Amino acid sequence: MQLVVHVTGARPNFPKVGPVWKALAARGVQQRLIHTGQHYDDRMSEVFFRQLDLPRPDINLGVGSGSHAVQTANIMVALEQAFLAERPALVMVYGDINSTVAAALLASKLQIPMAHVEAGLRSFDMTMPEEINRRVTDQLCDLLFVTSPEAIGHLAHEGMDTARMHFVGNPMIDTLLSSLDKLDPAGVRTEFALPDRYAVATLHRPANVDSLDAVRVLVTALHGVADLVPIYIPLHPRGRANLVEAGIEGHPGIHLMDPLGYLEFIAMVRGSALVLTDSGGVQEETTILGVPCLTMRPNTERPITISHGTNRLVTVADLVAEAGIALAREPGAAHVTPPLWDGHAGERIADIVVSWLEQG
Ligand code: UD1
Ligand code: UDP
Repeated sequence: MQLVVHVTGARPNFPKVGPVWKALAARGVQQRLIHTGQHYDDRMSEVFFRQLDLPRPDINLGVGSGSHAVQTANIMVALEQAFLAERPALVMVYGDINSTVAAALLASKLQIPMAHVEAGLRSFDMTMPEEINRRVTDQLCDLLFVTSPEAIGHLAHEGMDTARMHFVGNPMIDTLLSSLDKLDPAGVRTEFALPDRYAVATLHRPANVDSLDAVRVLVTALHGVADLVPIYIPLHPRGRANLVEAGIEGHPGIHLMDPLGYLEFIAMVRGSALVLTDSGGVQEETTILGVPCLTMRPNTERPITISHGTNRLVTVADLVAEAGIALAREPGAAHVTPPLWDGHAGERIADIVVSWLEQG
């Protein structure tokens, strides 16, 4: 029987792989899940497996953190053994992290066919490691699963054959929609002593958190927003040391916490008046939840969250003013759901994979 191997590694991969895995399992496809171990803290990894009812990884490569070269190379070396042993008919990779591009480079050298879930997103910002990872991965994949229509144009512009592209919707939104009835908003409100009105912030982009100078400016802006509304910040480990050193905790309206489990995070976001973020996935989730989102980046690879959703790009200089405007708006502003963000992307992907395997 033909084997499909999924390669995952970091927090945003887990809500994407779940719906695809479940839909392929329902169609009787033999699968393995490999976790590279790029993320390894319980709050960055294990908690997603527990809360999203994901299968235990068949293999955890345990590569951990490192420079781009070290991390990418270690993933390739460790994955090579697994791919040679398993001989998959198809490798599936997700998103734009180092685990994604490492698996794609390796599988293509071993001439194993590949599928990329979330293909064709482009920020056109080559200073972002994710943009490099996306472009390389898409070039190498046989099946390109696209979450929003403009991605088709980006892939075509880069010379990819449209026969490889499939607009299927967004499996991360499948996970969001299927999780809504598992949320415990009252429990989250009590556990974190949330006030009636609050904002949530997440930060982890290198451009925002890696340089102490940039972090100091950001902290001043966040303190300005905290003058308007208390901000709850489940902090990604990447920026913690710099943000703390820059004095982020020196305002009574700032509430730092460890990264949250998925269900707690979504419940906190859903109940919030405003989200400040530099995350890719959070731009999409706030679009569906209808929560105003200010993205602290000069660009986004997810423009559909602006055209259809609640997202706006903001500079650090404009953050306080933009937060004031967003907070002054009536809650529940009308927005349009992006096409096919309907909870069935995993099933569409699985149908295409099954028919591809049958033709194979
Ligand atoms: C990675 C992805 C990024 C994605 C993000 C999601 C790349 C190049 N970047 O960034 O696209 O948006 O994941 O969260 O793949 N760390 C821990 N515990 C962990 C994991 C990381 O403490 O479980 C710390 C380590 O100090 C590590 C740092 O976070 O050096 C960065 O981790 P890394 O996986 O290299 O990149 P992210 O910033 O997490
Ligand atoms: N998330 C979470 N707990 C948190 C912060 C984020 O479960 O404390 C989830 C979030 O809902 C989304 C995913 O993590 O599903 C996004 O991951 P991240 O922002 O780290 O990566 P990106 O999407 O920017 O690549």
